[in-house]
Amino acid sequence: MTALKNQSETKIYPPESADPGTLRGRLVAVIGYGNQGRAQALNLRDNGVAVIIGNNADGYAERAAEDGFEVLDIPTAVVRAEIVMLLIPDEVLTAVFEERVKPHLKPGSALVFASGYNIAFGLIQVPADVDVILLAPRMIGVGIRERFLTGEGFYCLVGVEQDASGTAEEIMQALTWAIGGLQKPAIAVTFKQEAALDLFNEQAFGPAFGRVLLTAISVLLEKGLPPEAVLVEMYISEEMAYTYQKMAQAGLVRQTLFHSPTSQYGAMSRGTRFLRMGLRRRMSRIFDEIERGDFAREWSGAFARLKFKVIKYFAMRQSINRVENQVREALAMQPFEGYQPAKDINAILEDPEIQEHLKTFRETFEF
Ligand code: NAI
Repeated sequence: MTALKNQSETKIYPPESADPGTLRGRLVAVIGYGNQGRAQALNLRDNGVAVIIGNNADGYAERAAEDGFEVLDIPTAVVRAEIVMLLIPDEVLTAVFEERVKPHLKPGSALVFASGYNIAFGLIQVPADVDVILLAPRMIGVGIRERFLTGEGFYCLVGVEQDASGTAEEIMQALTWAIGGLQKPAIAVTFKQEAALDLFNEQAFGPAFGRVLLTAISVLLEKGLPPEAVLVEMYISEEMAYTYQKMAQAGLVRQTLFHSPTSQYGAMSRGTRFLRMGLRRRMSRIFDEIERGDFAREWSGAFARLKFKVIKYFAMRQSINRVENQVREALAMQPFEGYQPAKDINAILEDPEIQEHLKTFRETFEF
């Protein structure tokens, strides 16, 4: 591998850099009360910020009301607030923003995104008279709440895309503090950089890592090792998660010092055999596709929705799922509550959305 360049021109916001007073007298509307919405709203309130929730009348709205928040429909919440935090999934935000947020924004208010996606790929056009702020925690919702309560904090990627008020940066810093994200330094990025990083991690590192893991499991099973021992070794023990934690604490390479000399020698001496896997070329291509907006265009199209359902059907039927079920039962592990068995392929084809796409395809192409 070529040596890594040290490109440290990055702007870093240190923990003490916010002025919490910036938020005084400004009402914050948290739009969406899911993973991020709930955690951020609770932290904001605990830090003394006035918060209302804008949400559809669904289970999330009920949860927000149970937590003691005033819950309004999305347009009403936007009309009332000076700061609007958009915490609904990126793929639904595009339409929700156009129809229920944009027409109700007050000039001089601030719009806050937790992901760069929609702005980076031009899917949302913001009015010129509002601040556009990025506040993207690098932490799942439950972690945001837990780490706020323990005082441990979490990292955030932050930025200002449009500074209509002249104070967007101060608002961004104060909000980062108020959601609990300035107990650690925050890192400045553009919306495009945040989106590219996030998508690259999901599309290049994640699948490459998954492929390596699956290949290792498959080789070990083929060699006749007991599946229970294989899955425990590879991930069920959570040893790998612990190694990741040590990477964060000690360093990517330095964490090897926590392993035995046999482990260190074995890993370092064999590591060179995996040098030429073609990873760099493939990963670089994925990055370029993301950066050009090819992926966002593909994912916005109807065909990708159809493809997604079909790919997911096959992914959920991979043999690892069967091996896992057997191993989990043998080890008396709790069933995973969030798991929904994959639908039958015929049920997928009968799905009204799929039927609609198929109808369009049939009308477009002659069979
Ligand atoms: P989520 O899936 O938990 O969002 C659920 C919320 O969205 C609910 O309040 C629901 O009522 C609302 N919602 C869903 N469909 C809707 C529709 N069609 N119209 C109106 N409201 C709808 O979303 P999550 O995971 O909290 O993500 C929110 C934002 O935070 C996204 O921009 C995401 O990229 C970003 N983010 C998420 C992280 C995570 O760990 N989940 C980490 C960092 C950023």
